[in-house]
Amino acid sequence: MDIQGKVVLITGASEGIGAACAARFRERGALLALMARNRANLERVAAGNGLVIAGDVTADDDRRMAVDATLDRHGRVDILINSAGAGLYAPAWQAPLDTVRRMYELNFFGALGMIQRVVPHMRRQAGGCIVNVSSIAGKVTLPWLTLYSASKYALGSLTDGLRMELRGDGIHAMSVCPGYVSTKFQDHMLMGSPPAKVRDSNWFRVRPEECAEAIARGVEKNARTVVTPRAGWAFVALERLFPGWIDRRLEAIYRRGLAS
Ligand SMILES: NC(=O)c1ccc[n+]([C@@H]2O[C@H](COP(=O)([O-])OP(=O)(O)OC[C@H]3O[C@@H](n4cnc5c(N)ncnc54)[C@H](OP(=O)(O)O)[C@@H]3O)[C@@H](O)[C@H]2O)c1
Repeated sequence: MDIQGKVVLITGASEGIGAACAARFRERGALLALMARNRANLERVAAGNGLVIAGDVTADDDRRMAVDATLDRHGRVDILINSAGAGLYAPAWQAPLDTVRRMYELNFFGALGMIQRVVPHMRRQAGGCIVNVSSIAGKVTLPWLTLYSASKYALGSLTDGLRMELRGDGIHAMSVCPGYVSTKFQDHMLMGSPPAKVRDSNWFRVRPEECAEAIARGVEKNARTVVTPRAGWAFVALERLFPGWIDRRLEAIYRRGLAS
């Protein structure tokens, strides 16, 4: 899809990958609608050039308000980027269920709720693009990030199904699977934090601007899945070919991190 002149609604746009997408899509001539909870940060990202919607993506009223405000201002929604999300670092067998549910409300149901609100409009327009920001952890399960991985696997599966369900309506759905992106994501975990050795490693690390550029290119090419950095594909392929070996390597890396 050509981005020039398109209306792009971005969740999680107050910082990190969502904010970088706002800048990159604006450069390509898109009209922006930016949603997150922190209005002051959103105003800064919008820089007087985009609709600011302060709201919580886990609240249905706020999701409706975001889509209505976008339609009131621009009359359409061409691209939805679901970037709002957070991690959870804890043993899956021990994590408090209420915290796990909170993460699913954000990473999965928040995105699904936005999709259910925009798709009827996209169908009427006979076109649109849904971008769900998953993770490399949504392709290969990372230990102790197990529940976060599970939420991103769910999001990836949702995206694949939507693509097939909505192709006939001219609506495309794309997953984005970044490795480590240099944002405050690690500080915003809903619980716990990976060991410093793992958190600070440069493996599969990209800047938010690189991630946003990969997303913009993916939208332009109607990509099914964007993995960034692209070396992440090799990791995914290795896991498919040698799953037992990758299991043991990942376990060792995370255990070593815990011990240091
Ligand atoms: N950074 C990484 O290493 C990495 C790697 C792979 C995938 N990802 C995924 O990329 C996405 C963006 O992550 P990031 O690195 O940009 O994280 P970030 O810097 O922590 O930004 C998270 C964004 O989500 C928003 N948000 C959080 N809870 C929200 C809620 N209830 N309602 C509305 N907005 C909410 C935050 O804004 P407010 O606080 O203002 O609401 C913020 O704009 C996430 O889905 C994450 O899982 C990140």
